[in-house]
Amino acid sequence: MKIAVVGTGYVGLVAGVCFADAGHDVTCVDNNEEKIKQLLDNEVPIYEPGLRDVLLRSQSRLTFTTDIESAVKENDLIFSAVGTPEGPDGRPIMDFTETVAKSVCKHANRKKFLVLKSTVPIGTAKWLKDVCADNSDEEIEIISNPEFLREGVALSDFLKPDRVVIGCTTEEAKQMMYEVYEAFLSSKDQILYMDNASAEMCKYAANSFLATKISFINELALLADEVGADINEVRRGFTSDSRISPAFFQPGLGYGGSCFPKDVKALVKKGEEHDIPMRVIRAVEEANDYQKIILHKRLLNHFGDLKNRTIVVWGLSFKPSTDDVREAPSLKLIEKLQQAGAKVKAFDPVASKNALAAASQSFEVMPSAYDGMEGADALVIVTEWNEFKKPDFDKIKSKLKAPLIFDGRNIFDQNKMKAMGFEYFNMGRLALNES
Ligand SMILES: NC(=O)c1ccc[n+]([C@@H]2O[C@H](COP(=O)([O-])OP(=O)(O)OC[C@H]3O[C@@H](n4cnc5c(N)ncnc54)[C@H](O)[C@@H]3O)[C@@H](O)[C@H]2O)c1
Repeated sequence: MKIAVVGTGYVGLVAGVCFADAGHDVTCVDNNEEKIKQLLDNEVPIYEPGLRDVLLRSQSRLTFTTDIESAVKENDLIFSAVGTPEGPDGRPIMDFTETVAKSVCKHANRKKFLVLKSTVPIGTAKWLKDVCADNSDEEIEIISNPEFLREGVALSDFLKPDRVVIGCTTEEAKQMMYEVYEAFLSSKDQILYMDNASAEMCKYAANSFLATKISFINELALLADEVGADINEVRRGFTSDSRISPAFFQPGLGYGGSCFPKDVKALVKKGEEHDIPMRVIRAVEEANDYQKIILHKRLLNHFGDLKNRTIVVWGLSFKPSTDDVREAPSLKLIEKLQQAGAKVKAFDPVASKNALAAASQSFEVMPSAYDGMEGADALVIVTEWNEFKKPDFDKIKSKLKAPLIFDGRNIFDQNKMKAMGFEYFNMGRLALNES
C-alpha cells in the first residue's frame, strides 16, 4: 500500500519505518527541515533502540520530505502523528492536527483517508469531519487509530502490538486499515473496530489507568515506609490475586514523559466539559506531583539544610532507554534542589543535552557516571538505566564524602548495600534499614 505519515517524531517515525518494513511504500513528512535533512542522511533524530537498523533495511520503501502537497496528492491514506502537547488550560493544543487536516483538504485531488495516530481529545474525529467538509470539495474520511507504543521499546510494541484500535464508520476504511496492519497481527482478533469516539477514549482510558497504577503503588510505598512494611512483599501479596495484574506496579518517583501527564490532564478537562469531575484521576495527578519531589524532601530531612551540598543525580530521561525528558521527575527534583541552594551534578547515558535544554536553571553534566562525583554529599538515582544497576560500589564509596545513596527506583539489594557500609534510602522499604 501507499501511505503518508505526517510528523516524524517518536510515534510518526516509528510508524512510518515499521509500515515500510511491512512492505508498504511510505512517505514521511515533517515541517522541520533539519529533521528531514538528518533522515535523508540516514541519521535518526531521536534515540530509540533498533530504529536505525529497521530504517536502513526498509530504505527502498521510505521517502522523507517536507513537501506535504505531493504527499497528499500521491497517497490516499494519510496518517497524522503530529504533537498534541498540553495547552495552558490542560487541554491538548490541536493546532498542529488542524493544520495537517487543512493541508489534506487543500491538496486532496480525490477521496482521502485521514488517520489520527496522535492522541487527540474525544470528539476530534467528529470536529475534523466538519472542518474537512468546510474546507474541501473532496471527501475526507476520518479514521481514529490511537498509538500505544512505549518509548524505549517502541519497535517491538509497534511490530507486535497487543491490539490495534480502529475507530471508523465504513467497511472501506476497515478493510484498508486491516491491510495496513495485517503484517503485525498474529490473529484477526487483535484488531478492534469501533466508533471514532470510543477509539479516541480508549487511549485516554489506557494511559489514565496506567497512571493510576503508578500513583497507587507510590502512595502505598510512602505508607509502607511509615508503618514498617516492605512494599515488595506487599506487592507480591496483593498482585497474587488473579484479578490484579502485577505489571506496571513499581514504586518510583512518579510518572513523566510526553503522554501520561498530558493525557491525564486532558481527560480531567474533558470530564469537566461534561460536568463529570473525574475525581479518581484528579487524585492520581495530585499524588504524582507530590511523588516527583519526594526525594527532595528526604534529602532535606537527612541534611537539615541543602545549602552548599553537592548532589549527584544519575538519570535524567523520564524513563530508561529514551532521550525524552518531557515532564521528567529529574527536572523537577533538580529544580527543587537548586532552589534549596544545592549544587547538582548529573549524568545520563543519552538525555543530558535534552535535559539541559529543558531545565529551568543550568546544572553540571558529568562526562561519565563517576567523573565529578568526588566530594559530593549524596548520590541520587532517578532513572533506572541498566548501566546503573551494577555499578562500581567501591568507586562510589571512595568518591562520595560519605557512602550515602537515595534510590528512587529500588535498583539495589538493601541488605547488600548495608553489608557494604552504605546508608541507603529507597522507596517503600525504609523499614528494612532498621532491621
Ligand atoms: N511519544 C510517545 O511515546 C507516544 C506514544 C503514543 C502516542 N503518542 C502521541 O502521538 C503524538 C505524537 O507524539 P510524539 O511524541 O511523536 O511527538 P513529537 O513531538 O516527537 O513529534 C511530532 C512531529 O510532528 C512534526 N510536525 C508538527 N506539525 C507539523 C506539520 N504541520 N506538518 C508536518 N510535521 C509537523 C514535528 O516537527 C515533530 O517532528 C502525540 O499526540 C502523542 O500524545 C506519543
